[in-house]
Amino acid sequence: MTELAPSLTRLLAAQERADELRARALGRGGRAFADLAYANSHDGPAPEALAALRGAVDASRALALQYTPYGGATIARRLVAEDLRRSHGASFDLKDVVLTPGAMAALNVVFRSVRRDDEASEVVVVTPCWLDVPLYLENLGLVARVVPLDRRTLRLDLGALEAALGPRTRAVVLSQPANPTGLLYGADELAALGALLARCEGRPLLVSDECHREVVFAPHAFASPAAFYDDTCVVYSFGKRLHLQGQRLGYVAVSPRHSHRRALARTLERLTRVMGFCTPTALMQHAVGDLLRVPTDLEAVGRRRGRVLGALFDAGYDVVPSQATFFVYPRAPGGDDFAFAARLADRGLLVLPSSVFHDEGRFRLSLTASDEMIDRALEVLRAARGGDA
Ligand SMILES: Cc1ncc(COP(=O)(O)O)c(C=O)c1O
Repeated sequence: MTELAPSLTRLLAAQERADELRARALGRGGRAFADLAYANSHDGPAPEALAALRGAVDASRALALQYTPYGGATIARRLVAEDLRRSHGASFDLKDVVLTPGAMAALNVVFRSVRRDDEASEVVVVTPCWLDVPLYLENLGLVARVVPLDRRTLRLDLGALEAALGPRTRAVVLSQPANPTGLLYGADELAALGALLARCEGRPLLVSDECHREVVFAPHAFASPAAFYDDTCVVYSFGKRLHLQGQRLGYVAVSPRHSHRRALARTLERLTRVMGFCTPTALMQHAVGDLLRVPTDLEAVGRRRGRVLGALFDAGYDVVPSQATFFVYPRAPGGDDFAFAARLADRGLLVLPSSVFHDEGRFRLSLTASDEMIDRALEVLRAARGGDA
């Protein structure tokens, strides 16, 4: 086989078109290129995070940088479990935690764990979703049942979710807070979802992707879906709040209330081996204790959020104010998200059209760009709304 299956190629098409926009925006923008596409922090990580990495190198003993066990080093898993006990008020222990190289690997092992080989297995995906979720499901032989959010409010459509759940539903996946919408699901929505799942034959696994859970703007507050339904797994990445996305440390943690807690955690641990994802680097595992103590600094992102939302409103964009994450998700004037993103790229501004998130008619801006890039982006966005871009 030299080519990917057509189903995977189809799913990659929007991402690859978006990659072409990068070349276009870079070429047109030159030194004025403004990259608001991905969550890469143009300011770099916090000094405390860099100090944690340096400290891990300096403290290394002879075997410190060698293989670590599947699932992760005991001490690193224990520290993460302690942190989860604090953040989620639930009795996580080290065996519930399977360390992975980022959330991408965590999503893959958790999806693989729900596939039954004797019949079609479905996973309900709330869209817009993180871009590669449907790609992973397709690759793993799972059927993605896509359930869009309410298009106007960007809230869960509980009626549509109920209609999508069935005897073959093995899992439901959503991100909380939601990427790309930047919204937090409320306790009322999560409780209603939990009640739906509890009534569902076979009790599907709820996959709660909490990569952005610390990036929440006051007065909003994070509530974990794990508090509303027992059979939940939490997926997490250390890349976001610490701005260390290339360092690939994350995990999947089985809720202590899961009805098959130990068996599922053991399966996830074994799957890291079966799938070749192994563990995150030894260095990141050594650093995790100090990384967990690095405070979350939302000053710059919060300031940019205020500026960007204000400028978008003033320019007449239709945007639901974000409550969390690095992202703002306005409607694309004209309704064609790729056509609008291409117009912006022609002016040196790179954004992600909503098609990459399996949605239509919007675009995502990331607040992790530098302040200079945000200045230029706002100029381009004002002009585009005025019709002269
Ligand atoms: C909601 C969500 N899930 C998963 C991922 C993948 O995370 P990682 O890069 O740590 O693998 C991301 C990254 O942007 C994300 O935003």
